[in-house]
Amino acid sequence: MRQEERLIKRLKTYSASDFYPFHMPGHKRNPELGAEYGNPFEIDITEIHGFDNLHHPEGILKESMEWAASVYGADHTYYLVNGSSCGVLAAVCGTVSHGGTILMSRNCHKAAYNAAFLNHLDVRYVYPQVIGDLGIQGGILPEDVENILQENPGIQAVLIVSPTYDGVVSDVAGIAEAAHRYGKPLIVDEAHGAHFPFGEDFPVSALDLGADVVIQSLHKTLPSFTQTAVMHVKGDLAPVAELERYLRIFQSSSPSYLFMAGIENCIYHMDREGRTEMGKFYRSLQNLRAELRGMLHLRLLDEEWVGRFGVYGLDCSKIVVMVDNTGLNGAGLERILRERYHLEMEMCTADYVVAITSLGDRSEGLKRLADALLEIDRELTDEPEDPDRESDLEWSGRVTSKPEVEMTIYEGLTAGKEPVAVSDSVGRISGEFVYIYPPGIPIVAPGEMLLPSLVHTIEEYQEMGLSVQGLADESGRTIQVVKRP
Ligand SMILES: Cc1ncc(COP(=O)(O)O)c(C=O)c1O
Repeated sequence: MRQEERLIKRLKTYSASDFYPFHMPGHKRNPELGAEYGNPFEIDITEIHGFDNLHHPEGILKESMEWAASVYGADHTYYLVNGSSCGVLAAVCGTVSHGGTILMSRNCHKAAYNAAFLNHLDVRYVYPQVIGDLGIQGGILPEDVENILQENPGIQAVLIVSPTYDGVVSDVAGIAEAAHRYGKPLIVDEAHGAHFPFGEDFPVSALDLGADVVIQSLHKTLPSFTQTAVMHVKGDLAPVAELERYLRIFQSSSPSYLFMAGIENCIYHMDREGRTEMGKFYRSLQNLRAELRGMLHLRLLDEEWVGRFGVYGLDCSKIVVMVDNTGLNGAGLERILRERYHLEMEMCTADYVVAITSLGDRSEGLKRLADALLEIDRELTDEPEDPDRESDLEWSGRVTSKPEVEMTIYEGLTAGKEPVAVSDSVGRISGEFVYIYPPGIPIVAPGEMLLPSLVHTIEEYQEMGLSVQGLADESGRTIQVVKRP
């Protein structure tokens, strides 16, 4: 390898360029926020005398996590150095017994599916609403959760994602009430809502709305290192000892002190200056959104959807820009923003792009985003409508993926399998996950029937150049299906 090809050199070169991040981590590479860390080697230690042990905390880490719990109003707060992924894995495995049943929203992150695989779970899905014809997932309805719980008394826990990647918040209080009526713990994957507890203009955190276990990625929307997250527990419906057991399994046995100090620093900062900064950040978002409402062709996901399609609230820090009827698809808009404006988005789907903003953003960055989108929008005036556009949308964003579950995820993944061309896979049972990443929500999970609509979705995502992952065949031409008996 040549000297300048090393990852560190690439990172430094990129960091010095004019590319601006509208993606995580939430510190946005803002030098003002990381000044205290200096040379990372200086503070990178292991479990030496006086520095406690995350897997058996009885000293400074125990005190630190107890202090954090008091900030959040939780009974227990755990520092996670393996992201929300390990929190979701521990929460699912800790609340549902091996071979047991969980009620999960279909838009869960792949960590939840991995937990279902590891512990051979039987999964019942509750589907989010779909917002009009936008191809964007709305909220989960409490009555849907209630109905499924009523029909399936064996369910041991409920897991939902709120907010979604796109900032859609469900009626968590209503869902918690429904779960509690049946004596089941509610786990909320609030990976994208770690900023909620610190900003009164933002949606209320699930922890204050009755959820029993709440997982938040500090690194996504707050100034904290990538991989840092927290898990909170409140009340006595979730078995704390089991949750802790699984955290010890899923977390590294050498948790980084840099990360743990970063978690504590982040919460410390947010509980003080952060609360005022969130107010300023909210006002700058209002200005940004007001400007973007002036777009004539591109559309902003905005407050008008609140109260419909299960959308209980919206996180205004997620800038979701829709491309319907513009002749562009989400990947195209993302490419223009990257190549022409050097603005890197968090993700795109067929129908929209998502920019993550945070209090780490500088006003110069928000201005660049507004100017770029308004300019692209003005240019769209004269663009001819793509004649294929309707057929794209027919299958991609608008399809609500409701596969038929034929076997558990474990059975599907471990069955005898064979590859078939994706185009010939209709009617077969999938032996692998297929998802676009981000957001990592499966289009198909192992053990599910490959319905025509799902196969079309996969093919169209591939044609659009979206990052379709999970297939063993990296060319994306074949899919592993369960062998017929
Ligand atoms: C909804 C959701 N949950 C969990 C995760 C995993 O979080 P982490 O990257 O902190 O492990 C993600 C990651 O994107 C996510 O979108």
